[in-house]
Amino acid sequence: MSPSRDSIEQQAVSAYTKHFGVSPHAVASAPGRVNLIGEHTDYNEGYVLPVAIDRATAVAVGARDDDRLVMNPGSAQDASFPLSRLYPSERRAWTDYLTGVASLLQDRGSPIRGANMYVYGNVPRGAGLSSSAALELATAFALIELNGLSIPPVETAKLCQRAEHEFAGVKCGIMDQFISCLGRKDHALLLDCRSLAYEHVPIPAGVDLIVCDTGVKRTLAGSEYNRRREECATGVRLLSPSLGGITSLRDVSPAQLHDLRGLLDPVVLRRCMHVVTENDRVQRSAAALREGNLSEFGKLMYDSHLSLRRDFEVSCPELDLVVDLCAGCDGVYGARMTGAGFGGCAICLTKEGFTDGVIARLNAGYHGKDGKKASVYVCSTDDGARVTPIAP
Ligand code: GLA
Repeated sequence: MSPSRDSIEQQAVSAYTKHFGVSPHAVASAPGRVNLIGEHTDYNEGYVLPVAIDRATAVAVGARDDDRLVMNPGSAQDASFPLSRLYPSERRAWTDYLTGVASLLQDRGSPIRGANMYVYGNVPRGAGLSSSAALELATAFALIELNGLSIPPVETAKLCQRAEHEFAGVKCGIMDQFISCLGRKDHALLLDCRSLAYEHVPIPAGVDLIVCDTGVKRTLAGSEYNRRREECATGVRLLSPSLGGITSLRDVSPAQLHDLRGLLDPVVLRRCMHVVTENDRVQRSAAALREGNLSEFGKLMYDSHLSLRRDFEVSCPELDLVVDLCAGCDGVYGARMTGAGFGGCAICLTKEGFTDGVIARLNAGYHGKDGKKASVYVCSTDDGARVTPIAP
């Protein structure tokens, strides 16, 4: 059992109190996420269907008299920055996410005061469960509360996405920040990444979500991710004149892409093929979820994985192995890699009562490089970011 959200927040508060000698003003927390389906569609203005999970990052925050941001003093990773000079660090650091959010709040004209912060959390890092979005959102909610600001949630999510672009150097889409901000327990979130219209779709009872962390670190994630983005943009550029000046792959149907395939080189064609078919799968998955048709949902998960493996080429042998192992188990609806890929986690949707069998099969059957075992656990869904003032 992973510690509850309350206890993660409590740990941040205790560590803050211990290290700064006073109670914090507030504690904010934000969850990691698992994307059920809709991968690499967000930055193509398409559709995604993630859930917020019961792994979170908490930030306890309090005011300082000077104009510095001070983080996690006394830990191996403590840091301190003047508010007037918040830049991305030369060698990417965890603090970039916090300074990025603070800097962009200032940028939008929100005055920020000096702050002490203590970060504590249990979203595994580098596993593709959006630990960075959780950190950004928890920081944003903490600083918004401390400074008495009022910023709508969607704007907060967009600001955090910008922090990721400008301070972490990954040109991510909006999915991770959006779900970490606006997720709802027992629901998936269907998001139209163009209009940012969204719908919370209830998850039927009787189903478990298994996460299998391959332990393969996503070292290529940043550079390859940005390259995939460029390949999609190339596709749009080449298709646009034939399709009335479209601006994103969102506007291309699988049939149109098939007709115009001669315009694209084979790699760009495969990237585009993934995106346009994935958008279609997300819509069908959301419909299946609404109807409680989990068999159909699971089938679409397998199709998504295959498309990510063959066409978008962001899977890896370890993720494929997990999906194959799941596919051979009783009670499994579907399985696929989740997140950017190149390692990280795969997920499996299982009928309640069959979960232990699937976990046993994964523990027995999975062998990574050097015989490494996977870390396999059941995740629950959770609510998006929140902040709680602490009584003095
Ligand atoms: C990462 C990015 C998201 C999204 C996924 C792939 O998690 O942060 O914006 O593009 O990869 O679906």
